[in-house]
Amino acid sequence: MNYDFKNLSKQQMIEVFQSEDQALIEELYRQAYAVKEQHVGKKVYFRGIIELSNICDKDCFYCGIRKSNSKVNRYFMKKEEILEAAEWSWKMNYGSVVLQSGERCDKEFVDYIEDLLINIKKLSNQELGITLSLGEQSKETYRRWFEAGATRYLLRIESSNEELYKSLHPATHDHTERLRCLEYLRETGYQVGTGVMIGLPNQTYEDLVNDIMFFKEHDIDMIGMGPYVVHQDTPLANSMPDYDKKIQLGKALKMISLTRMFLKDVNIASTTALQALDPLGREYGLKAGANIIMPVLTDTKYREKYLLYNDKPCVDENATMCRACLENRIESVGETIGYGELGDSPHFKARSKDAGNT
Ligand code: 5AD
Repeated sequence: MNYDFKNLSKQQMIEVFQSEDQALIEELYRQAYAVKEQHVGKKVYFRGIIELSNICDKDCFYCGIRKSNSKVNRYFMKKEEILEAAEWSWKMNYGSVVLQSGERCDKEFVDYIEDLLINIKKLSNQELGITLSLGEQSKETYRRWFEAGATRYLLRIESSNEELYKSLHPATHDHTERLRCLEYLRETGYQVGTGVMIGLPNQTYEDLVNDIMFFKEHDIDMIGMGPYVVHQDTPLANSMPDYDKKIQLGKALKMISLTRMFLKDVNIASTTALQALDPLGREYGLKAGANIIMPVLTDTKYREKYLLYNDKPCVDENATMCRACLENRIESVGETIGYGELGDSPHFKARSKDAGNT
């Protein structure tokens, strides 16, 4: 079957997901890579990620740091430790950092993040870009954090299928609230990032294609999505008897390529979860159309406590080792790193320009 990959119908996207034809799959990757080169270039942008705490009020059925997992030793990084990591990444010319943690929305936490943001901007001469990945918050909190210096926010919807979402979360977690939060983020002025997990139990190819449509309809600037990877101490641990790492990886790479073909000028991350499935997972992600890498900055002593899924790579390493390793990996696929650049998504830039003109 011959496809015009640039103009696939929804049905054809589903067929591409179903296909095991290696030549067809290679051609998809090749064309997605060409679209990436044309719209966002061959530079990879670093977002150093600081996983500042694994304390979480949520209880998602797939996640290793869910509230009910009593096997996890909980930690909360000190302010000085976080600022030190941020300063290191600024000195290393990483354009941006990401602050991620388990979800909390109490006043103490909100104030703490606000203070960190102000201090990170200060220590980096206002230069370091800051992305937040801190879950669902009130509009007021999003506004405070934006005013304190964060410009991008990542909030995965996990799936655009509300029924599937319900099957993966306790009844207290609300898909509608998640969507409302994305609207708040947009209204506040953030570059908005979202994403899904790929290969979830009972997820269909149609669900994944609908996820891509969702990204488009919501005019999303950045995509952070990755394969679902089993965590042994979660309620979903045994829910996929046919779980296979190779299949998960294949689905995730097709999803990256199809999203690149369909959305073109957005930033797409080659996420660490890809590397949990294959040592070369993140390189494959770049070849399939992703253009962002998130090197882990978290101090080694905390890494083994921030395990959202099994086989998370780099837990014995430190930020310097991750930097050197990723430089080699990126070079190996013939790309360069956008050191010292913010690397905002061209989609966001175009969107802001349009808004300015009206
Ligand atoms: N496999 C893959 N991704 C996961 N996440 C949480 N648990 C898992 C898992 N088992 C992802 C979710 C969440 C992000 C921070 O991590 O998509 O939004």
